[in-house]
Amino acid sequence: MPKLASYNGKVDSIENIKVSPMSRAFLFSDSVYEVISFYKKKFIDFETHLDRLKHSLNETKISCSIEECKTEIVKLLNESKFEDGYIYYQVSRGVDSIRSHFAEESDCERFGFIEEFSFFNQSPLKVMLVDDIRWQRCDIKSTSLLGNVLQMNDAKSVGCNEILMHKNGELTEGGASNIFFVKNKTIFTPELSPNILPGITRHQVIKIIKDKKLNFEEGSYSIDDLKEASSIWFTSTTKGILGVEEIVNLETKINTECELLEICKNAFVKRYFS
Ligand code: PDD
Repeated sequence: MPKLASYNGKVDSIENIKVSPMSRAFLFSDSVYEVISFYKKKFIDFETHLDRLKHSLNETKISCSIEECKTEIVKLLNESKFEDGYIYYQVSRGVDSIRSHFAEESDCERFGFIEEFSFFNQSPLKVMLVDDIRWQRCDIKSTSLLGNVLQMNDAKSVGCNEILMHKNGELTEGGASNIFFVKNKTIFTPELSPNILPGITRHQVIKIIKDKKLNFEEGSYSIDDLKEASSIWFTSTTKGILGVEEIVNLETKINTECELLEICKNAFVKRYFS
């Protein structure tokens, strides 16, 4: 079945959508995006995703009505038959007449598609620890993801399905997720900074940890902390909370049966997927 997509508000089969090669998204990755999940036809934390899209638009000075984005995302869900899945939605600065770093005054360009997806029974992750070679504004959900893509493809070539990044030994995040780890019965996660994306799932998991009154700390952590960790988790809109079974280039003490992970996972499924 052809994928359903939306281009500047018009919903159509993805094959019928024509995008100009002069799009600033195509030429410069001059665009920001969101990935929003839905379950039983209902968005999960929709308003929080829209707030983060607004943050990304503001920080990149891309002028676009968030209400228009909202309408288009809702329309895509309503016109699709999918019950469970996610919507990818991006906004670029627009389409120019010549290629120039200096943008023309043009309307923003909006593109999204809907994907069917099952959030359950995902396998534990095999991860490679890599240098974080990305830019200094990773709090913006930009489509400029070359730093992630290069490292993730290297990791894939040795059988991994995620990366765990560090900047000069300080842990940042995954290639497409945030990280948590457990050490001495306490759950840790890197604090928010321009070096990481403020993940919506990260926020949801922290709420659960606090509600359950589990020992928890947000701060700055190193590769040495990871070596001592008894459990490592990645969180994202599509992964939910997913445990790590191995870091291929680091000796760890990971025990895949972690009680704290089970508590958080069960509460997460109960809160968002039932
Ligand atoms: N990625 N960090 C990075 C670099 C990410 O790309 C993502 C999400 C996250 C987790 O954010 P959230 O919990 O809001 O999904 C953290 C999406 C899913 C993607 O690019 O496909």
